[in-house]
Amino acid sequence: MAKILILGSGGREHALVWSLAQEQSHDLVCAPGNAGTANIATNIAVDVNDHNSLLKLVEKEGINLTVVGPEAPLAVGIVDRLQTEELRIFGPSQAAAQLESSKLFARDFMREVGIPHPDYRACRSKAKAQAAVRDMGLPIVLKADGLAAGKGVIICQTQADVDDALDLYFDQRAFGEAGLALSVEQCLSGPEMSVFALCDGESFVIIGTAQDYKRAYDGDLGPNTGGMGSIAPSPLATSEFVDEIAETVLKPAVDGMKARGCPYIGCLYAGLMIADGRPYVIEFNVRMGDPESQVVLPLLETPLSELVEQALSGGLPDSVNTKPGAAVCVVVASEGYPGEYEKGKPITGLERLDEDIIVYHAGTADRDGQLVSAGGRVLNVVGMGETIAAAAARVYENIPRIDFPGSFYRKDIGG
Ligand code: AMP
Ligand code: GLY
Repeated sequence: MAKILILGSGGREHALVWSLAQEQSHDLVCAPGNAGTANIATNIAVDVNDHNSLLKLVEKEGINLTVVGPEAPLAVGIVDRLQTEELRIFGPSQAAAQLESSKLFARDFMREVGIPHPDYRACRSKAKAQAAVRDMGLPIVLKADGLAAGKGVIICQTQADVDDALDLYFDQRAFGEAGLALSVEQCLSGPEMSVFALCDGESFVIIGTAQDYKRAYDGDLGPNTGGMGSIAPSPLATSEFVDEIAETVLKPAVDGMKARGCPYIGCLYAGLMIADGRPYVIEFNVRMGDPESQVVLPLLETPLSELVEQALSGGLPDSVNTKPGAAVCVVVASEGYPGEYEKGKPITGLERLDEDIIVYHAGTADRDGQLVSAGGRVLNVVGMGETIAAAAARVYENIPRIDFPGSFYRKDIGG
């Protein structure tokens, strides 16, 4: 039995562990995991950014394969580190992870290899950014070059917005080093969709498409969050359009990274905006999405471990098998999120949910046998159905059976 380690502690990681557990042929370990992964894997309390401790864990536990959930350890080279020790790990190298860890690397790469993207200027000072805005006009998008936990993008409608944003990046240094270089970009408008591909360095296979809901409140109002819900497949994903995305975005990305000497191995997540009927890359991420994994993975029929093995050894299939129909995920969050919130609230009633509903835990913990909240996004309630509307109805029938004081969730996911 292969021993597989999954790194991370959110809903995405619970979904990864859940998919692997469905195969019933692995011994699963999660670091650090959450109260949900503890039900189907062995949680070990190691910080994903502490590479020395991770290496010790992999050696001590005899892990055969490590799968990385979040971007932070990839950006600082966890894959390179384990590979130096000849350990097997699924995810991009530090060089390849620059597609997410440096927005300017990613934009320059897209320009070089001809992947459709918004017009942009690389600006490494406030004065340069001001000049770029004067040149390109309003509205404009300012994007921190480095990782900023999904918060580094500011969309500016007016010059006052630009002044405030530049003050935040350069004077207050709200994003630290990550915000001292910016991509100043043309503001596109149109619907968004995400495409997930597994890559083996030479080729890729699309495993699903999705749409996430980034704003905190119904009607896409309120502050940006890590994601309050998701649906799959994306309603925009006709097979012709997915083929176009494969040809114009994914193929040049995989070919281009190989040509640069840093072949892309791992999950490549293309965040797209559709403008004038064409897909433009808003961002690349170098991992699965959260909460998109929670809808893409339960629809995937091809065993995930098989695909990961094929991505590591070469020889991915041209396509995967997916379940018919759709999946909807609604995030149940702590009141106050994405601002300040309390933790440690008891959660009960999960046993009252219908059997076909999946609850992926995100910020949960076990406190003396009681399930409690331990983060901003706490539970991901996932339902499936013939259509997105039917799947959403299943979720919304079930959520009220959960008793979690001081929580909130969006009522319009999939609507
Ligand atoms: P990102 O963190 O790059 O995904 O950006 C967060 C959100 O900002 C995206 O989902 C888009 O809605 C928006 N955004 C980012 N870049 C642009 C752009 N160039 N034009 C319009 N909207 C954008
Ligand atoms: N849901 C957006 C992300 O995973 O980055």
